[in-house]
Amino acid sequence: MPFGNETTETLSRILDTPHLSSDHPLGAIVDASFAARGVESRRTTAPKVCWGAERFHLQKSAIYARLAPEEQHAVLVRLTELNLSLSYFIEKSGHEYAAKMIQTSSTLEEKTLYALFANEEATHLRMFMNEMWFTPNTTSHFHPVLPALAEAIEWGGRDTLVFVIQVLLEGFGIAHYSGLKETCMDAGLKTSLASILRDESRHHGAGLVLAKAKRPDAETADQIFELSRRFIRSFETAHWIPAAFDATGKPLSSEERKRLFADLDFGTTLGARMARLREMFEKVNYRELFERLESDGAFRVTSV
Ligand SMILES: [Fe+2]
Ligand SMILES: [Fe+2]
Repeated sequence: MPFGNETTETLSRILDTPHLSSDHPLGAIVDASFAARGVESRRTTAPKVCWGAERFHLQKSAIYARLAPEEQHAVLVRLTELNLSLSYFIEKSGHEYAAKMIQTSSTLEEKTLYALFANEEATHLRMFMNEMWFTPNTTSHFHPVLPALAEAIEWGGRDTLVFVIQVLLEGFGIAHYSGLKETCMDAGLKTSLASILRDESRHHGAGLVLAKAKRPDAETADQIFELSRRFIRSFETAHWIPAAFDATGKPLSSEERKRLFADLDFGTTLGARMARLREMFEKVNYRELFERLESDGAFRVTSV
């Protein structure tokens, strides 16, 4: 798997696919297709807050408490923006993933499964876009999982992808989306998240069935090891909360960052994240791979 310039190209090709201009005639046809599926276009034009301070445990932070109300608002808007952006990129990559899986399927049922999967990911993307007052790009709304995701889809073999995308990422994603749903303050988005979760459980369930049906060969096992290690590291090093303080115009110093992590008990949050990722290996009995990752220190919390 390549690194460097090729990574950047893969990232842009898969995740920064441009949008047509809003007056392009194809837009009306896409809108009509969504409307036929009960998804109306109701794109938000102004910044808003979909998750409050409690979602991020910010009520426990002395640094957050000291901010002026408009600065606190700016932090929460930025956190909403980052959460919506990550979902946008994941759903966008789902189009590419489903296309690759349709092409490499050897039975009709598998092709049908992934054709429906593509339909659902496109619907999820539209649901998230309905809440967005901005169009993200992988620079302004970067998350460390994005390069790993783009490269996995570009270079991963079919059996590798079934595990890393449908078992590991979608399994982890279900817990993430369900947390977002529980704490969402926007009624429309909350309803969308409930419907997205029902689809994602099926995607994950199909991944479990396919992964259990076939033991990975040596090459697949090596790819799964390498990609899982990158995905796990990317979730361990994803620190949005301190980065969101930049929106106040006063980025945190390294001392303040440490204080924030201590107030939020962020080490425990990361530990829970690692435990959820671990579970995915148990679900498909990938004991050897799990032990290989464990002895490599893949699940260790080191960043806070
Ligand atoms: Fe999705
Ligand atoms: Fe999905």
